[in-house]
Amino acid sequence: MVENDVKDLGLADDGRLRVEWADRQMPVLTRIRERFEKEKPLDGVTIAACLHVTTETANLMRTLKAAGADVALCASNPLSTQDATAAALVGAYEIPVYAIHGVDDAGYYSHIKAVLDRKPKITMDDGGDLVTMLHQHRQDQLPEIIGGTEETTTGVIRLRSMEANGVLGYPVISINDADTKHLFDNRYGTGQSAMDGIIRATNVLLAGKTVVVCGYGMCGRGVASRAKGMGADVVVTEIDPTRALEAAMDGYRVLPGRDAATQGDIFITVTGNKHVLRAEHFELMKDGAILANAGHFDIEINLAELRSMANDVTSVRPEVEEYSLAGDRRVYVLSEGRLVNLAAAEGHPAAVMDMSFANQALSCEWLARTHGSLENRVYDVPEDIDKEVARLKLETMGVRIDELTNEQETYLAAWEEGT
Ligand code: ADE
Repeated sequence: MVENDVKDLGLADDGRLRVEWADRQMPVLTRIRERFEKEKPLDGVTIAACLHVTTETANLMRTLKAAGADVALCASNPLSTQDATAAALVGAYEIPVYAIHGVDDAGYYSHIKAVLDRKPKITMDDGGDLVTMLHQHRQDQLPEIIGGTEETTTGVIRLRSMEANGVLGYPVISINDADTKHLFDNRYGTGQSAMDGIIRATNVLLAGKTVVVCGYGMCGRGVASRAKGMGADVVVTEIDPTRALEAAMDGYRVLPGRDAATQGDIFITVTGNKHVLRAEHFELMKDGAILANAGHFDIEINLAELRSMANDVTSVRPEVEEYSLAGDRRVYVLSEGRLVNLAAAEGHPAAVMDMSFANQALSCEWLARTHGSLENRVYDVPEDIDKEVARLKLETMGVRIDELTNEQETYLAAWEEGT
């Protein structure tokens, strides 16, 4: 048995069936895995991955292993781990996993340390906790690392700040900035899975409700459009004038947070910033307001302030805590303010993670090939990889597109032709 710290290896059979189910929706990754099996582009490369331990991630881990990598996985969030998936990775696929759903902070960080103990050459992160641990406590390991990948907006923001401060110790590829990642995973993935989490946790009817979406980045757009599609009256709050304008022209009401606070039935934060919902908003909210976060960290809702305002806090359903406030008002917080789509549901559907994780797999292969020639900065996914993922996804969906004619190519390359 490979090394592990998982909840119950007895869940491995159930987990394997779930992993295989997800794999059926991940044809691009499957194709990459089949090629990797033959070519072994990551032969002998140790990879430490810190990702949400889901069935989709399991299929990425299988793909890296098929490429010859020595891969180990820990969780990037204490509440997103699927214990059956973790068990299957260990029991059925012989991949070391350190992840238990609901683990405390000490356990969470000890799991990150466990994957770093394997002396990785490549790191794979979602949110930046592994990279931060390396730079703060394992600087001696930095020279051994040829590069890393980062999955999400929040992690990329942290990496860019490290780069700007001259402390980034190795090159990292921003998977998030690939078109085939953020235009799909962030928008359609978060859009669907956030609604899924809220519905599973509360079984609330969306039609006729006022849903306040805080933040109109790619994730916010997805959430707003799905809420609108389910019959909600959608209000958007923003701090960026261009995004606010887009939201207004996309047909949403745009309001300052305090105005939105008085109107919302359901609030969903997707900003990547801290304390987006705080005391000044809680005190204006209606009785029965539901608060959920779909941003990476559990900082967007100021729970400490909410707790200090509450007369009582009780658990009323799995994933739902009731805060009793002044004026006979009750406010409900889902999944302790952690990522509702992963804590209360299963994260983004496999068909969209197919593209994100195809970028991850191909970027690892690219990193292994370019070994030594990169600087310590944040890189985009190479354009040919991004386009290849789009091309493969279309092919697996049976969607065909046109090609430029020779005449059109010449026209695009010329500047002389006008009216
Ligand atoms: N992030 C969001 N959804 C995810 C999923 N299903 N698997 C891994 N990471 C995710």
